[in-house]
Amino acid sequence: MILVTGGAGFIGGNFVLDWLAASDEPVLNLDKLTYAGNLQTLTALEHDARHVFVRGDIGDTALVPQLLARYRPRAVINFAAESHVDRSIHGPSDFIQTNIVGTFNLLESVRGHWSALPDDERAAFRFVHVSTDEVYGSLAPDDAPFRETNPHAPNSPYSASKAASDHLVRAWHHTYGLPVLTTNCSNNYGPYHFPEKLIPLVILNALAGKPLPVYGDGQQVRDWLYVKDHCAAIRCVLGAGQVGQTYNVGGWNEKPNLDVVHTICRILDELRPRADGQPYASQITFVTDRPGHDRRYAIDATRLADELGWKPEETFDSGIRKTVTWYLDNEAWVSNVTSGAYRDWIAQQYER
Ligand code: NAD
Ligand code: DAU
Repeated sequence: MILVTGGAGFIGGNFVLDWLAASDEPVLNLDKLTYAGNLQTLTALEHDARHVFVRGDIGDTALVPQLLARYRPRAVINFAAESHVDRSIHGPSDFIQTNIVGTFNLLESVRGHWSALPDDERAAFRFVHVSTDEVYGSLAPDDAPFRETNPHAPNSPYSASKAASDHLVRAWHHTYGLPVLTTNCSNNYGPYHFPEKLIPLVILNALAGKPLPVYGDGQQVRDWLYVKDHCAAIRCVLGAGQVGQTYNVGGWNEKPNLDVVHTICRILDELRPRADGQPYASQITFVTDRPGHDRRYAIDATRLADELGWKPEETFDSGIRKTVTWYLDNEAWVSNVTSGAYRDWIAQQYER
């Protein structure tokens, strides 16, 4: 069995679904179900005995050791985090608590469990920490993409908290020998993405006839990766990555935000034209920029390609079309998220 933390979130949820589609190895899914956790993403697994869901906090130093002792996972994949930059600007406290203190407590719980394992299980054990390219800071237009050797230079409360967690994970390997691997990935997009992030927000606002908010001049660059390619990269790192190593994951898909928004508008014009015949791009609205907004991220994923043979399957064109189509085809998930009904569903689920 593997332990996935944050498996009701966007990337963790996709990871659990993909894992169980390809393997019968069970998943213990530990998630606190914050506003970003959505069990409806995992509806297909509701009656699947290979998926054990536990609502709880990675920082719970009573619960996590109990789970480790009971289920004896061979690996932990740590997705759990507060993940939205704008929320970290308005209220950094939860980011410090989960991303730093929570990761510290999780590392300590895992270290206690791992150090007591028999030799063969201890040698095979892995802790994969899922992190972000934002820890490297911001690039100038002509800078080379981030390599694993770039220094950490985080600029937002979110990225600072993730950088701190990366350092803790690294230290737990160097000091205690915990068999860790860290991935630093660029911007993901795809199914089950919570509509506070640019791509799902633009799709859903466009369909609702609302403004499409573009921060500043819209020329900030992100390197977009389809979420299922990220999940495949994590499986590669878990399976064959070098212990103690960090791996950058990216799509070689650098795009200015405004181009991304126009691309979504064009796909919607084709697949779901507006009733009045106007283009969705007419809804684009420039709004006040994000404070401290990083100008450009780009990932050099050569190490992952050379060492582990990973490369993304989707181009941006194929991935964004799949994504827009998914949002058009999954109205039930979308309406539960946009109305907040998924929160009621979680409450009912836990009453049961
Ligand atoms: P998300 O916000 O969609 O999901 C996070 C999940 O973690 C939620 O289900 C939430 O309930 C859970 N969670 C939060 N605090 C918790 C806690 N204390 N204990 C247990 N569970 C908790 O995030 P995401 O976009 O799926 O990102 C997952 C991970 O990948 C994060 O660590 C993030 O930093 C990293 N990452 C994200 C991206 C991206 O583009 N989304 C890119 C690179 C790396
Ligand atoms: O780079 C990886 C990171 O990507 C992850 O670590 C984070 O968890 C994830 O949230 C994401 O961070 P970003 O801040 O890049 O993603 P977001 O979707 O919030 O914004 C993408 C870009 O779009 C960014 O330059 C800000 C801009 N933006 C965002 C929103 C929500 C807008 O212009 N308008 C918006 O309404």
